[in-house]
Amino acid sequence: MRKNIVAGNWKMNTTLQEGVALAKEVNDALDKVTPKCDVIICVPFTHLAPVAGVINDKLGLGAENCADHKSGAYTGEVSAPMVASTGAKYVILGHSERRQYYGETSETLKEKVNLALANNLTPIFCIGEVLEQRENGTYLDVVKAQIEEALFDLSAEDFSKLILAYEPVWAIGTGKTATDDQAEEMHAHIRKVIEDKYGKEVAENTSILYGGSCKPSNAQALFAKPNVDGGLIGGASLKAEDFMGIVTAF
Ligand code: 13P
Repeated sequence: MRKNIVAGNWKMNTTLQEGVALAKEVNDALDKVTPKCDVIICVPFTHLAPVAGVINDKLGLGAENCADHKSGAYTGEVSAPMVASTGAKYVILGHSERRQYYGETSETLKEKVNLALANNLTPIFCIGEVLEQRENGTYLDVVKAQIEEALFDLSAEDFSKLILAYEPVWAIGTGKTATDDQAEEMHAHIRKVIEDKYGKEVAENTSILYGGSCKPSNAQALFAKPNVDGGLIGGASLKAEDFMGIVTAF
């Protein structure tokens, strides 16, 4: 069966020293509980190797992005093999902030997904509509197209390695969470889109996380929905106490 997962996305926050301290704090807190979910933190590239050195296997580690090329003359980029060499096991791909501010398209995301998989990194692949698409009623089609365009060239075996994250752009960092019913509607839709392409078994085994102003006070209701398998947490992952409040919502 699919896993429940709570993953933090630190985005461009914390200095190296602050990040290492936060990772230690989260790991120490995790050591004191028996979480009913996998717990992952996705951190800036600069923090990966030092954080890997201070956490244990109760806490998974991921990057927030990787390059769409394996190596070469791409100044400033960080490749999937480089990420993997730090000890990280996950990589967030297709976050709406990357699509919106850095022009990432389904074409570049396809390359990134392939490179991540080739380097044994589990992509946490983000999809989600903007407010206008929610309001004009196209949101289900928009998300379906995002999945089809970037992921449907994958074999069923490779698709099974992915984690998906539904993040309605209008809910990210706004304090405006999707209701648990809105999340469930979309997550059930995503699972059906997967089922139509890869079959019921792959669909049932895919973890689909919700992201967008998820916090300790709303996590329990969201995670109680049958198709919501956890959360991708931005702001609330920057405080160990808040993040643990979400982890223990399962
Ligand atoms: P917030 O939790 O800050 O809304 O961010 C969600 C997100 O973008 C996680 O990837």
